Amino acid sequence: PRKIILDMDPGVDDAVALCLALADPGLEVVAVTATGGNVGPEQASRNVQAIIERIDPTRWPRIGAADPLQPLRSDARDLHGPNGLAGIELPVAEKANRHASVKVIADEVRNASGEITLISTGPMTNVAAVLTLEPDIARSLRQVIVLGGSVRVGGNATPAAEFNAYCDPGAAREVFQAGASIVVVPLDISEQMVFGYDLLEFVRARTSRTATFLAELLPGFYRAYRERFGMEGVCLHDIAAVLFATNPELFATDLMHGDVETAGELTIGATVFDRRSRPDGKPNLEVAVRVDVAAARNILFRVLENAC
Ligand code: BDR
Ligand code: CA
Repeated sequence: PRKIILDMDPGVDDAVALCLALADPGLEVVAVTATGGNVGPEQASRNVQAIIERIDPTRWPRIGAADPLQPLRSDARDLHGPNGLAGIELPVAEKANRHASVKVIADEVRNASGEITLISTGPMTNVAAVLTLEPDIARSLRQVIVLGGSVRVGGNATPAAEFNAYCDPGAAREVFQAGASIVVVPLDISEQMVFGYDLLEFVRARTSRTATFLAELLPGFYRAYRERFGMEGVCLHDIAAVLFATNPELFATDLMHGDVETAGELTIGATVFDRRSRPDGKPNLEVAVRVDVAAARNILFRVLENAC
């Protein structure tokens, strides 16, 4: 199986992405590290631990804690609920001995040089810190898959900026410039991961730990989407990044030069991709530009069917 580390800010769609990753036999989840984003750093760290304890996977990943002082421009508690888990209360057994996310990622990358794919589904604070820690580390990662930014659709956090890039634009910029092998799965792709009530019915009809967890978690998220956007469905952005690791054939990509606006009065956090036929800079990113949505949906259902 392909070794991955997930750096995430759970968040309901992060939680589903984590379930998907843990249930896919093609992946070995080496570590799950928290970053603040949808909720603050301490709540995100708690949520990572709580979700893993609740699912109790056969092989437990290492857990990393977000920096409690992580500076963030925003959160998304209005959509994900005050605790990031759409209002459900998940216990944590005890405060596990958690190392800092950045240390966990760096240790594991050194231990398995060239083998680890780092998947980022939150603000890129930790990823940027890891990539700039030592010159070697960016090269020692097999791949970095980032869920964030937008190519043509504008933003969701602001009219110009996608949420993960907006929360820590400086980090997003460092990641884009780090010289690692980076795949960007932008909002243009992730906003297509919309699921109606068939997903809720599907998990309700199953008895695995993962399915019963999702059956508890999802209703509050459907409610939030209905109240906030008038939608009869939810968008599970972050699963797109995990699907890129397991099923890259679902995506078409282009090589592009991309950067992040870190100072604009109206545009801070906006990603800027050079799509001209004769771009100035050399491509530094592989950007997902199309996805087979129907196939992506089927994979989520199929993998959840066999979850523990
Ligand atoms: C991103 O914003 C967050 O709220 C989601 O978890 C996802 O990572 C999409 O813009
Ligand atoms: Ca997220």
